[in-house]
Amino acid sequence: MIALSKPSVGEMRVSCGENLVMRLADASDAAELVDFNTRVFDERITDWTADLVSGTHPSVRMEDFTVVEDTRLKKIVSSVCLISQTWDYSGVPFQVGRSELVATDPEYRRRGLVRKQFESIHARSAKKGELMQVITGVDWFYRQFGYDMGVKLWGSRCVDARSLAGIKNGEVAPYRLRALKAGDEEWIREIYEGVGCGLLYSARRSPEEWTYEFTGRCKHNTRRRAWWVLESTDGESIGYVQYLPCLPLRNFPLLRVSQVELKPGVGYLEVMPSLLRGLWEKGMEMVASGELTCDGLEGLEFALERDHPLFRALGKGQVRELKASPYYIRIPDMIGYLQKIRPALERHLPGTLAEGYSGELKVSFYRGGVRMHFEKGRILTIAPWSPADIWEGDAKMPDSTFLRLVCGWQRFHELADSHADCWGTHEASILLDSLFPAFHGKPWVLA
Ligand SMILES: CC(C)(COP(=O)(O)OP(=O)(O)OC[C@H]1O[C@@H](n2cnc3c(N)ncnc32)[C@H](O)[C@@H]1OP(=O)(O)O)[C@@H](O)C(=O)NCCC(=O)NCCS
Repeated sequence: MIALSKPSVGEMRVSCGENLVMRLADASDAAELVDFNTRVFDERITDWTADLVSGTHPSVRMEDFTVVEDTRLKKIVSSVCLISQTWDYSGVPFQVGRSELVATDPEYRRRGLVRKQFESIHARSAKKGELMQVITGVDWFYRQFGYDMGVKLWGSRCVDARSLAGIKNGEVAPYRLRALKAGDEEWIREIYEGVGCGLLYSARRSPEEWTYEFTGRCKHNTRRRAWWVLESTDGESIGYVQYLPCLPLRNFPLLRVSQVELKPGVGYLEVMPSLLRGLWEKGMEMVASGELTCDGLEGLEFALERDHPLFRALGKGQVRELKASPYYIRIPDMIGYLQKIRPALERHLPGTLAEGYSGELKVSFYRGGVRMHFEKGRILTIAPWSPADIWEGDAKMPDSTFLRLVCGWQRFHELADSHADCWGTHEASILLDSLFPAFHGKPWVLA
């Protein structure tokens, strides 16, 4: 077990016993962090780590890495990185901390080194005013640190080479994909922001972050994205494709497409044959040039949100689904978060059965809860509330069911169906389903 010594985590030099000390990284750790992460993961992580420790990332500084050092051997044996960013909930921006590059040397595992660093990362994230922490990666592990499945990352659906071969050839495609040229970046940004505004959760980009996305990462950083513009034969730009300019995984010979957006007024049915054919040709060119390091391309992977219109435009038999793990989410101060997103919650009511509602809603989390006052569809207060006994409350939501509701993972009636101890009055059920819609999107997180 770890012996915690003063000063406390978050501020930092914490003994982890047996010559192990946890501290914030500094510039002298940069090269070793790159080597360490490459050893624990593989060389697909090397350039990403190098970019993160280079000082050029818009939000990551060396002190956003925690490290555990073996002071006897003078080497890093465990590390975690915090990537701060802005997300948006139905038009309300809020700060998010994304942990990444979570790694422990195999010789030092299962001694609580990551658990200890998460305490520190959570404290640092709170100090930065981040209301939510998110993480992807290994299934289940982060539940131990207060996370639960919250925002879906579903979506990869593959179109295999053999169905692409069936796309009609021999006619002039009315649309084609081309590389970016001057002015496209601004235009892509506008389309992305226009689409994002309509989603329950999306990730925002500051001007520096956009510049970093387009030109900041080094060539072999596996988090780098690239873009093509879809244009008509007379040169009108009608949409864009964001793609991964390397294989998604070693031995995974697919071209991964991570965003497809069309200008308002352009329909998917019209562009699909040209788009699929264009992507397939681009993918084959990337194999020929060595950009995609595989012998042959097996198809296209569309890593898009579950209800992306492109999926509806594809034929049912044309796609193969790949399951992806979700974002694990932590909201340490749920009441503070609800207060922050209050304007968005109010905006969700018009058009639902709860439009114009006046009254009170008390939701019990069994050990604590929240009380909300409504006046003609406005939310006047959102405050902590303690149920006096186990029976009190208009709705009762155990464990992390409320987090799942707030994130749009499941709606109230679904949670009540699957958990015997999740329950609400008829009125409370309608209110909760109206306040918290479902979300099937896929935020483009800053990496
Ligand atoms: C996953 C990984 C980071 C865990 O590091 P670690 O330092 O061993 O983690 P901790 O010891 O702090 O683990 C916290 C708890 O989980 C337990 N745990 C760790 N690995 C576990 C595993 N594979 N299965 C079940 N429990 C595990 C620990 O025993 C500890 O339990 P305790 O707090 O009750 O004692 C490490 O195994 C690793 O580097 N793996 C390869 C890289 C990777 O997959 N990183 C995550 C990518 S997002």
